[in-house]
Amino acid sequence: MPARRSQPSRPLRVLVTAGPTREYLDSVRYFSNDSSGRMGFAIAIAAQQRGHAVALVHGPVDLPEPPGLADIAITSADQMFRACTTLWREMDVLIMAAAVADYTPAQPLKTKRKKSDEPWMVELQPTRDILARLAAHRRPDQVVIGFALEDRAAKKNAEGKLGRKGLDAIVLNRPAAIGTDESEVEILVAGEGWQPPVAATKTAHAQRIVELAEKLVHRAQDVE
Ligand code: CTP
Repeated sequence: MPARRSQPSRPLRVLVTAGPTREYLDSVRYFSNDSSGRMGFAIAIAAQQRGHAVALVHGPVDLPEPPGLADIAITSADQMFRACTTLWREMDVLIMAAAVADYTPAQPLKTKRKKSDEPWMVELQPTRDILARLAAHRRPDQVVIGFALEDRAAKKNAEGKLGRKGLDAIVLNRPAAIGTDESEVEILVAGEGWQPPVAATKTAHAQRIVELAEKLVHRAQDVE
């Protein structure tokens, strides 16, 4: 039986990120994360269907652009950082589903490196943590929901991320969810604890995450 949907809330401004970022070593080679972008796109579509104004910032994905929302295509973690920080002031909620690269080549080459028999040593430097940065620079009425992709000590690591990054909620999933349509996710809400695990389609998870975002925004804005 399909889950009963709650009534849509008043329209919110929702910033969603999706997909991987690419960090180029030279003009043709890059590091990236394994991510289809499907969860983030499903969240953007679910938010739009509930009447919210959505800005979708996404890396390179093989998905059609959802019509009627602000679609911002970026490539690198640095570009995603800039796009999100510019938009953040105007938003009520951030849902950070993107698989942002944690490292980027320290000295990318402008042209294609020629093949040689020598090893190629590449120095990687950390990228900025977009989620932590936006959470640290938010007004009390803004809500921040992050994701955690964990393959071991999953709940403990997700709890650590929620606290460290200062989030209102975190959606925990496992590497098995990458590229699939159905997955199991667990959601931890700050001050409330873990919700029971749910196995469902990404569309169903997306609807639940958007409804949670609505609830958290109203909670944040009502106590103002
Ligand atoms: N994230 C981010 N900016 C980064 C890295 C991650 O905003 N440079 C966000 C992701 O979009 C996600 C959350 O942080 O919402 C957690 O990402 P995850 O890859 O699970 O964890 P990391 O923070 O990268 O830590 P680790 O790799 O050690 O698990």
